[in-house]
Amino acid sequence: MNMDDRIPTYIKGLDERMEGGIPKRYIVLVCGHAGTMKSSFTYSVLYHSAKKGMKGMYITLEQSRESLLEHMQKLGFTDYVSENLIVVDLAKVRKDMGVQQGEQKEIDWLGSLINALKAYKNMFGCEIMVLDSLAALYSLTDFKNPRSDLFSFFEKVRDLGLTALLISEMPTDKQVFGLYGIEDFLSDGIIHLATEKSGNSVNLFLGVVKMRKTNHDRGYFPLIFDNGVFEIVTD
Ligand SMILES: Nc1ncnc2c1ncn2[C@@H]1O[C@H](COP(=O)(O)OP(=O)(O)OP(=O)(O)O)[C@@H](O)[C@H]1O
Ligand SMILES: [Mg+2]
Repeated sequence: MNMDDRIPTYIKGLDERMEGGIPKRYIVLVCGHAGTMKSSFTYSVLYHSAKKGMKGMYITLEQSRESLLEHMQKLGFTDYVSENLIVVDLAKVRKDMGVQQGEQKEIDWLGSLINALKAYKNMFGCEIMVLDSLAALYSLTDFKNPRSDLFSFFEKVRDLGLTALLISEMPTDKQVFGLYGIEDFLSDGIIHLATEKSGNSVNLFLGVVKMRKTNHDRGYFPLIFDNGVFEIVTD
């Protein structure tokens, strides 16, 4: 596989440890507990890709577009190429789906969201998508059969034909990467952001748990962030 078939994570030190990055059109879970920089990391992938001319969309089902962009600007993601990076929030998705506030439970959220994503992709022509987050998506839908509903959702995401980074907030009580315990085998890759307490401080670590067809390092590395750039510490 050559580098053109992969999307770099733009985390310094990481891409060379995973054959150049994430294989295109993979579905990758980006998981971690609250506050582990899942949004920042996935936004960083889109941001740096946009600067290289690759289009991406960030779908935020939790935070509003304004709040997310404000947070990202504070982190140092300032001179982004706006025509290459669109941020869509739930309010806009609802509007585009013709859904009024308060009637969300009756509609087929999974199917409708896929249709909205297809429309955005066609309109905008993007290659990468971030969905923030699976937990927020779950809160909108009443699963009849979570396993088969999720299986079909992942298949439809795959059919979109783009690289999908799905943010998965991990339950605090269990060491599983998704709420239903099946998201990990439905996806092609898992990037895990974890914190560890050391004395009085809490450090952030990144591990590539799984990346199909990729010879990747299995270690957990300290992850540092400075003004818009992530880096793993490898010495
Ligand atoms: N300038 C900064 N440099 C490094 N880390 C920062 C900076 N500003 C905020 N942070 C860290 O980033 C975290 C929030 O990042 P982010 O919103 O990406 O995390 P998240 O995993 O998406 O959180 P959530 O669970 O709320 O969705 C904060 O909890 C804080 O620890
Ligand atoms: Mg977040």
